[in-house]
Amino acid sequence: MTGKEPKQHWNPDRYEANAGFVADLGSDTLDLLDAQSGERILDLGCGHGKLTVRLKDMGCDVIGIDASAEQVAAAQELDLDARVMDATRLDFETEFDAVFSNAALHWIKEADAVIEGVFKALKPGGRFVGEFGGSGNVAAVAGALVEVLESRGVAIADVWPWYFPTVDDYRVRLEAAGFDVEEIFLFERPTPIPGDIEGWLDTFCESFLKAVPKDERPAFVDRVRDLLAPILRDADGNWNVDYVRLRFRALKGGAP
Ligand code: BEZ
Repeated sequence: MTGKEPKQHWNPDRYEANAGFVADLGSDTLDLLDAQSGERILDLGCGHGKLTVRLKDMGCDVIGIDASAEQVAAAQELDLDARVMDATRLDFETEFDAVFSNAALHWIKEADAVIEGVFKALKPGGRFVGEFGGSGNVAAVAGALVEVLESRGVAIADVWPWYFPTVDDYRVRLEAAGFDVEEIFLFERPTPIPGDIEGWLDTFCESFLKAVPKDERPAFVDRVRDLLAPILRDADGNWNVDYVRLRFRALKGGAP
């Protein structure tokens, strides 16, 4: 969603079909944001704008940013102020009452650069509220991908696209930037996905799939699927991915 050289590309239709639930599950984080009508809000990693619209409908003056031009174009079709921007190079100063982010920060390994940009973008006392994948997120999926890729001689560090921090890791970074952390916690959220795990892998695991020659990808996905079925598929054939989320609310305090 956001970050420098994306190893992952986003197609708004594919995203909605395989991952429309991501925005639906963002409601609790929106509640934690507690947005008020008239507030100026930045939605960092807005994707195709499903939650950004909800902020606009609440009467907020909202800007969405995302690194994916395709997702931003879809958000603009919803009549949103959406902009293509790298979240590690935010270009705002002391203008937002709040910065909100759902399911985006795990795509950006340069966490400090994002946090510093958010701090600068907020007014004094402004809120940084978000949720993203935390330590242990999709551990079963990652384990299967690693097992099959390592058996093919792929160096996992070269293709690993995610940042899934612990509470301590992220708290320390927020505080170092000058934030007062009001709330931060990890929680497990086994997440039902629409359809087969193949669609999820296709949507979220591009950098792993790209490590395999194109003609061998179907067999690769089958192998990963076989490893995961006993863990993530229930008796009725429904898949639940082993999400672990990190949710936080922090306030811009004094200078760092
Ligand atoms: C997500 O964007 O929600 C996501 C990405 C990778 C793993 C799990 C979730």
